[in-house]
Amino acid sequence: MQTQQTPLINPFGVELDLEKGLMRGAKNHLVRRASDMRGYYADAAALQRLIGEENDPVHYEVFEVPVPENYGHLMYCISTLRPGLVGQEYFMTKGHYHSIPNTAEIYLCLRGEGYMVMKTAEGKFATERMTRGRMVYVPPFWAHRSVNTGTSEPLVSFCAYPAEAGHNYGDIAVQGFPKRLFAKNGECVVA
Ligand code: F6R
Ligand code: ZN
Repeated sequence: MQTQQTPLINPFGVELDLEKGLMRGAKNHLVRRASDMRGYYADAAALQRLIGEENDPVHYEVFEVPVPENYGHLMYCISTLRPGLVGQEYFMTKGHYHSIPNTAEIYLCLRGEGYMVMKTAEGKFATERMTRGRMVYVPPFWAHRSVNTGTSEPLVSFCAYPAEAGHNYGDIAVQGFPKRLFAKNGECVVA
């Protein structure tokens, strides 16, 4: 039965800094810089300039206090995506499907503004606004990427998803998403 695959652990609590967008005592702290984003932006030359001339800035950080990656547990994280542009394209996360595709995810936006950009393997595409206090439900089977469309604030969100879900980056690294988010004359344009 499923319960035999679900390790019993003790309850715990975690302190979050909602303003700074970090999780105290996080055991996993992922930092992705511009140089980790090669191949993801439309303007590869602009990304190279950021890496070479602006000291390879941090794009985003993810904080986790991990739980067993088994059915029944919930993984959760704080994701903090800096503001910025690569050419005219807003800073964004790599984006991924879950390795177990029929697993959903909830994102609660805590600070900043942006969009969750989503697609399915069958060609559906959707965006959902992310602003403080707004929750985005990413249904099973939808690849997801967050984009910071703000000019000065980080886009901070809390996410939760089935702990066994895993991450499949390969398909997005190859195919990308059908549309990108650009800043044109101070407006966000999806193209
Ligand atoms: C977990 C999840 C988020 C992202 C994070 C970074 O399933 O969706 O925690 O992992 O926002 O984005 P990626 O993983 O696409 O680099
Ligand atoms: Zn995810």
